[in-house]
Amino acid sequence: MSRIPDADDVTPKVAGVPVDDPDVSSVLYDANMIEGALEQLAALVVSHLGDFEVFVPVTTGAMMFASDLVRSVYTMERMLREELRRGYKRMVISCATCASYGAGTTSDANAEVEVRLPSCDVKGKRVCILEDIIDTGRTVMALTKALYAAGAEEVALIALMDKSARRDAEATKYFEEKNMKIACAFMCPDEFVVGYGLDYGGRYRELPFIGVLKPELIAASAEKK
Ligand code: IMP
Ligand code: MG
Repeated sequence: MSRIPDADDVTPKVAGVPVDDPDVSSVLYDANMIEGALEQLAALVVSHLGDFEVFVPVTTGAMMFASDLVRSVYTMERMLREELRRGYKRMVISCATCASYGAGTTSDANAEVEVRLPSCDVKGKRVCILEDIIDTGRTVMALTKALYAAGAEEVALIALMDKSARRDAEATKYFEEKNMKIACAFMCPDEFVVGYGLDYGGRYRELPFIGVLKPELIAASAEKK
């Protein structure tokens, strides 16, 4: 997997601050840390993905991340316009939907990932996927394959979080073969996290931080099934 040059500048951080939400055991990344990471990712997009035109947020999880990031990119482009000596990037933003699991916490290794492609034409375009979290990598792999099948010239990935401990070998091999440009803002421990768009059964997306969901809540809902 190739990292976009300078991606290391987006230093992974883990805070582990206690939080006053009864369902969350600790905050991994608070609003300030998220804001700082987005600025760095925006700088990366402006400096290294200048020829990427189509941006594809994966709904619903990436909605907060993508909406903040694309506005940061716009502001950053304007700030750097003298240095860049190029016209403004006019982004095409169009969402994709990928479904691999509903109310559970892990995707089924054998299940097909259902992909609904963005409605815009990606033929001959450089396309950047915006994803909340890359876990096994199967979701991003399925979407990347579908975008190439639809004629995309190149597909890159920007993810807010990277749960690399759980990466699937086939996905890693595929990203390497494609020499895919990948940047992630934060490392994610092998725990189930919620907030800032990330959900558990559709809940917790509205949290203004990313935190670890109390494991007993996952165990309790698994028992009810
Ligand atoms: P993958 O296909 O295993 O990489 O799974 C990626 C998808 O699973 C992401 O788009 C998320 O929607 C979801 N996911 C993975 N880990 C978490 C988590 O800790 N919290 C919430 N959603 C997660
Ligand atoms: Mg998702």
